[in-house]
Amino acid sequence: MKKTQVFLTIFMFHLCVSKGQLQVGYYSETCPNAEAIVNYVVSEAAKHDPRMAPMLLRLHYQDCFVEGCDGSILINDESVTNPERGAYAHQGVGGFEQIEKAKLFLEYTCPGVVSCADIVALAARDAVVLAGGPFYEVETGRRDGLISNQSLADDMPDVDDSIDTLKSKFMNKGLSEKELVLLIGAHTIGTAACFFMPKRLYDFTGQNNSCDSDPEINPYFLPVLKQKCPKDGDINVRIPLDAETNEKFDDQILRNIKNGMAVIASDARLYDDTFTKQVVNSYVYESIWNIPTSSFLQDFAMAMVKMGRIGVKDDSNGEIRQVCSSFN
Ligand code: HEM
Repeated sequence: MKKTQVFLTIFMFHLCVSKGQLQVGYYSETCPNAEAIVNYVVSEAAKHDPRMAPMLLRLHYQDCFVEGCDGSILINDESVTNPERGAYAHQGVGGFEQIEKAKLFLEYTCPGVVSCADIVALAARDAVVLAGGPFYEVETGRRDGLISNQSLADDMPDVDDSIDTLKSKFMNKGLSEKELVLLIGAHTIGTAACFFMPKRLYDFTGQNNSCDSDPEINPYFLPVLKQKCPKDGDINVRIPLDAETNEKFDDQILRNIKNGMAVIASDARLYDDTFTKQVVNSYVYESIWNIPTSSFLQDFAMAMVKMGRIGVKDDSNGEIRQVCSSFN
């Protein structure tokens, strides 16, 4: 065997070990149309509901951060006490019907083969592409988890966390500070409810007066946000997370963060820290050269693949559910 072949074999071995049983094209023999079926369901749903793509992208993140990417967020069964889905941290999460619909088609086509956790991961990728973001290969082969409990979501990153807390919560999931910035870049699409805004706009330091807002908000942008989410107004009103190009998956969210135009507090916090600030800046188009130093879209895709590896279950601690909202 040539030296390069030996190196490649060792390299591939390590790659497989680090991601467990996950592999691109895991269903290519057992359910060759699996990815096409998920893609069909997501595309059809997105045609009728512009909120679908951001919801499905968020669903994958919310799933992965609690008990790993194992579909634990999907459980909605009366026989389960306090399932994870009802957790405070999962406020506003949606897309469940589309995952269940894809599962129904898949069970008809190849029963007992494709996990719900994989459907969520594939749907998130398709959502990114539909919004104009990068295509990336999704590693599959996850099993569905056997646990779903609200209390396990207690430690999810919170909109009002400090940058140090956000960094450590991501670090605990094996994600770097750079990946924190990249993944938060997902807020280039979608909306947030005014529910998440009062502290940032009216009670940032706990003085509870209308001048007590996050000093990082651009003074021109502050009245815009306050108008959209007035004090004691309707907390269900939804506002774009990317105030400039909300429906397009691009790098505008990072420019917004740089310009003090982040909408939710946790996005703004990325500019509080020397390292994460530098990462944001490295992706932002500089006005003179108009060339970013790194490719946000490409790096975002890699960070998504890495997030998809969090806490993946295998046959020893997981199953292939028949219905995504119930354990077998
Ligand atoms: C620091 C971590 C994060 C925090 C604190 C956070 C917080 C939030 C909040 C408060 C909302 C608004 C929810 C609503 O009103 O329904 C939201 C929406 C969203 N988040 Fe995050 N998020 C974080 C990371 C992520 C990551 C890693 C992703 C994906 C990779 C993501 C994707 C999304 C998307 C796409 C939406 C829009 C959902 C919609 O339009 O329904 N978020 N996030």
